[in-house]
Parts: sequence; C-alpha cells; structure tokens
Amino acid sequence: MSAVAFDQKDGWIWFNGSFVPWKDAKVHVLTHGLHYGSGVFEGERAYGGKIFKLREHTERLFKSAEILDFQIPYTLQEIDDACQATLAKNGLVDGYLRPIAWRGSEMMGVSAQKNRINVAIAAWEWPSYFSPAERLKGIRLTFAKYRRPDPQTAPSLAKASGLYMICTISKHEAERRGYADALMLDWEGNVAEATGANIFFVKDGVIHTPLADRFLNGITRQTVIDLAKARGYEVVERRISPDELPTFSECWLCGTAAEVTPVSEIDEFRFTPGKITETLMNDYTAAVQPAEQKIAANA
Ligand SMILES: Cc1ncc(COP(=O)(O)O)c(C=O)c1O
Repeated sequence: MSAVAFDQKDGWIWFNGSFVPWKDAKVHVLTHGLHYGSGVFEGERAYGGKIFKLREHTERLFKSAEILDFQIPYTLQEIDDACQATLAKNGLVDGYLRPIAWRGSEMMGVSAQKNRINVAIAAWEWPSYFSPAERLKGIRLTFAKYRRPDPQTAPSLAKASGLYMICTISKHEAERRGYADALMLDWEGNVAEATGANIFFVKDGVIHTPLADRFLNGITRQTVIDLAKARGYEVVERRISPDELPTFSECWLCGTAAEVTPVSEIDEFRFTPGKITETLMNDYTAAVQPAEQKIAANA
C-alpha cells in the first residue's frame, strides 16, 4: 500500500475530456455523486501496455450509468481511447485504471435531472491486490454481516459507487478480525461474492460458482469460466448454499484487482489450493498478456 495519499500523487488525470495535473483533479463538496452515491466506475488492469478487456469494461461502465438513469457524454471509443491515453500519459505499462462517472453539482436534491455527468480516468501502479506470499498460501475469508441486495431493492448489476458502502463495512470488520476479505451472501442466504471479487469452488473435479444474476458478473469471472471450459473442466453456475462449503476442496476469488486468488479458509471451512486453482491462476496470467508478448515469450 502506497504511503502517499491518492490525492497527493504525481501524474495526470483525464477529467471531462482533457488531462489535468493529478493534484488538481478536484470536485466540489456539493456534488450529487458524493451526497447520493450517484456514481459508476470501473477497475481495469493493463498488462504490457494493453488494457485487458478494455471494451468490455467500457461497455459495463455505460451499462452501469444507464441503470443509474444517466448517459455518459462520450462514445465507447472515446472512453477506450481516453483510458489508453491515461495509461500512456502516466508512463505506465502495467497498471490499474479507474474510470468513474458521476452526477455533478447543478442540483442538490434527490432529483438530478439537470446535473452534468462528469467523467474522470486515473491510472496508477498496483502490482497485486493481495501479497504474493499470501496468495500462494490462500487467503482467509469470513462471512459478512451484510448481504448483497435483492435486484428489486438496489441496482445490483451495476458497478455503482453506492453499492460499495456495505462492502467497505464488511471488509473493515473482516480485517479487524484478521481476515483478508469478507464473503457476502445474497439476500436469500446463498453464497454471492466477496467485497470486490467473485468466488469459485471445486468439488470432485467440477467447478461450481454462484449464478451471477444478482451481483456483478465479473469480467474476470467470465474469463476464468472460458479458460476452465477450454481446459475441458465442467463449470456449473448455480445457487450455492453455505451449507455446502464443507463439500468443496478448492476455492478461489477472481476479479480485475484480485486476479485469481486462492482461498484457504472461510471461517471454520478449509480449502487446499490444488491443481485446478493453480492451472487457472496460470492460465489467467497467460491470458492477460498482450498477444505480441505471448508470441515473443513462446519464440
Ligand atoms: C463487488 C465486485 N464483484 C466482482 C468483481 C469482479 O469484477 P471484474 O472481474 O469485472 O473486475 C468486482 C470488481 O470489480 C467487484 O467489485
């Protein structure tokens, strides 16, 4: 974790169409996004100068905005280009990108019909979400107090800022108790996801993962499912009860930031990162490398 606060770094942030010095990328305290959580964002990683699944992330950003009833005032291509330009402008080859869109200050009630939609993109170095040593051992999770909301209660399929409120509370509580992250159930009590990553299990050589129709269907999750199927593994997407945890042998989390991270414990349940976890960890690492570098590595 960097000792420098995120508003004090050096670099450039793409802010409503042009680059501004990092420390000047400010918003006013009377901003709808701050008061009412009316923002949507993405988390992307670049490997070897190329942003992995950039278009998929940009499409999800636009979809999240649409779910929150606003329109991003750029085209998909403009945002893709701006992401790539932000990476280059900050001299990054491997890095993390954070595009965000939010409602501005024109109206300060719940209604925000006339508010400007602002868009910013920042990029920084972020080697690994969990430390490599921790990753190899498998991380420890505990159940969260809060549950993922019913899609009839909240815009569950959007990557919306407001939805992370319960993730931060849950992750803080887990960290206070010595765990790396919290596992959240859905509102019906099925296993859902961690606070910023999706979850997979293995039982008798078959991969099981919760059906992503009520929480974020991660781009990494979709990639890992494709990689697993390409290896010939059976992948079952279904409701998973926490009662089943003792029957699973392997478990991992996956997300843009977490990549593929083995899990060793969820409270009293134990998992041993095994062949399937390791295979998919390695396959994911290979998949994110830009094509030219894969060719060079194989030459
Ligand atoms: C709550 C939540 N679930 C799942 C994911 C994984 O999504 P992705 O693989 O698209 O990064 C993330 C990360 O963005 C997340 O914040």
